[in-house]
Amino acid sequence: MTEGTTHIPSDLIHLRAGGISVLLDVAVGTPSILHWGADLGDVELTPDLRAIVADPVGHSDFDRPVTAGILRENARGFLGRPALAGHRLGRHWSPLLALTSVEWEGTAVTTVSRDAGAGLEITWRVELTQQGVLLIDQAVTNLGMDQYQVDDLTTWLPLPDRAGEVLDFTGRWCQERVPQRQSISVGHWSREVREGRTGHDGTIAQIALTPGTGFRTGEAWAIGLQWSGNSRHVIERLPIGRTSIGAGELLMPGEISLDAGESYAAPTVVAAYSAIGLDGITDRYHSWLRARPNHPTNIRPRPLTLNVWEAVYFDHRLDRLSELADVAAEVGVERFVLDDGWFHARRDDFAGLGDWWVDPEVWPDGLGPLIDYVNARGMEFGLWFEPEMVNADSDVFRAHPDWIFHVEGRTPPEWRHQQVLDLGHPGAYAHVRDQMHALLSEYNIAYIKWDHNRVIVDGDHLGTAGIHRQTEAVYRLFDELKHLHPGLEIESCASGGGRVDLGMALHADRFWTSDCNDALERVSIQRWTGMAIPPELLGTHIGPHHSHTTGRTHNLSFRAVTALFGHAGIEWDITETNPMERAALASWIAYYKENRDLLHSGRVVRSDHSDPASVVHGVVSRDGSRAIFAHVQTALSLASKPDRILLPGLDEDATYWVREVRPAGSPETQQISSPQWLSGATVSGRVLGTIGLQPSILRPENATLIAADRVDDTA
Ligand code: DGJ
Repeated sequence: MTEGTTHIPSDLIHLRAGGISVLLDVAVGTPSILHWGADLGDVELTPDLRAIVADPVGHSDFDRPVTAGILRENARGFLGRPALAGHRLGRHWSPLLALTSVEWEGTAVTTVSRDAGAGLEITWRVELTQQGVLLIDQAVTNLGMDQYQVDDLTTWLPLPDRAGEVLDFTGRWCQERVPQRQSISVGHWSREVREGRTGHDGTIAQIALTPGTGFRTGEAWAIGLQWSGNSRHVIERLPIGRTSIGAGELLMPGEISLDAGESYAAPTVVAAYSAIGLDGITDRYHSWLRARPNHPTNIRPRPLTLNVWEAVYFDHRLDRLSELADVAAEVGVERFVLDDGWFHARRDDFAGLGDWWVDPEVWPDGLGPLIDYVNARGMEFGLWFEPEMVNADSDVFRAHPDWIFHVEGRTPPEWRHQQVLDLGHPGAYAHVRDQMHALLSEYNIAYIKWDHNRVIVDGDHLGTAGIHRQTEAVYRLFDELKHLHPGLEIESCASGGGRVDLGMALHADRFWTSDCNDALERVSIQRWTGMAIPPELLGTHIGPHHSHTTGRTHNLSFRAVTALFGHAGIEWDITETNPMERAALASWIAYYKENRDLLHSGRVVRSDHSDPASVVHGVVSRDGSRAIFAHVQTALSLASKPDRILLPGLDEDATYWVREVRPAGSPETQQISSPQWLSGATVSGRVLGTIGLQPSILRPENATLIAADRVDDTA
């Protein structure tokens, strides 16, 4: 049964890494997962491991116990959703796959299963990384002579039924990653994306939980998809009492048809388990992403960025932007990004997309004078593009109206006056790549902000759905431009956080987390986007006092504390600032620079608080020597003397000097005297995590920044 097997001492395989165990059974017709979760230790692989989990046979039941296995074929007697759905004009719709080979190397196992009659083969590969993250790949190959149509290939993992709740994220423009949590009932809970990009309500990961799981306690099982196109995350519970979690690409009808010998590879699923609450899930995802050699912080510190969008919008003038660059340099900005409005005919959002050359009316001498000005002040230059988009009012659309996604004979509804270029046309792909390449070659551009402001409907490529091809083309374009321009960084933006996912995380260097720079909204958006994406990949800017998207007004201190916890920047017309504000900005930027090594490598921690309006989060260095926390009061506290805040994640046996820090001024409070520790106290990590600190009575929409340093290091 197991040809091609290497070093498999028994039909049970135990993968162990990062405190996680995966126990695979490869003895029967289908590989199955006996356990995914906490480390089992040095367990002896005997048949008893199978015996202790084998199902009994009930009344009104199949006569022999049914093992769903990872492929979950209905033909096997499994009555949930199968991993593979497809057919050849109605035939071969019910495969039954038999295991033909197993290969095991280190902490990775590859199995091949085949249904010779149906002409189908499935390769399934699981790798347990050193961070305890599971990476699972699946592919189906058509071994038959006629076309096989793939409707669905979802990657599933079994869960214990004590996983009684599911947490995932919805959202919309300016309000990304809104958590929603509910009980798991019999049936399917499915989160689908059909907009051709990840979407503002793209969940990034779906998480099953034991009831009561919080940030610091309880069990959690998360899966996310390395994919930026249409997707589905699903939880399934069967009436017989089996719970599973799955994710896969949401394929449009007819999108994947395999000719003889062709394969379809499903996007990689990234799964994480934690027995210590949601922070444990976060830590695994962050550690896994950070272990990549090309993770941005493994190359260089993240430069403090100024984006000009909310300062000037489409009003591009060299003198005005130069003035902005002067103030930016004065306060310590390191990267200056010119947003939308610099290219041909782009005076507003009705025209120009697709014509990626510098508009001579606004920039008679090209971008050179601005870039030189910015560079001369010690800052890098970045430039905005929206590469997949065209306006009807553009030269490229006039010349190639057939290059946009459309069904023959009709035009999709416009969104922000634009349509989507179908990169499946080689000419369209080359047009975008060549124009971007030309600009990147001509100018000293270190950074691209890559926007994607509309959804895709009627994503048709010459008669069949083209979203899968488009998604792959976008990844290829990112990679090709980076290859042509070594060191180029790219930020993924889609009207803010509309393309934040674990697939794009492997191609982009930063995400624009949200178009909402309102610090209050940002507290929640950043907290939940950060569930899987580390802070150094999340753009967090200080916006204007008066938020352009919500109309709320916030003091600089609150905006600065909020923007500190990410790849920090500014998006505000700072030419309007007074000397005190400039001094505060300069001091905040200096603090960011001094602490970005900690902020961008430490463990992200959050604590559960009795008052939903009190939010506590922080970053603790891996060696426990330093930490920075924020206590945010999002609304009036429940009690007039708020409950103590616990500082999680510190070394319990170490002593810390803990105090308030005010790099950009003080929060507003409603107190006559302040808590005594604000000016400094020396206590243990265990005390800070158990007794905690009595916070200030903050006014709503204010935050206290807290630093903790291990005393033996600072003495
Ligand atoms: C949407 C983005 O999210 C904004 O930051 C800005 O770049 C605009 N597009 C420009 O059109």
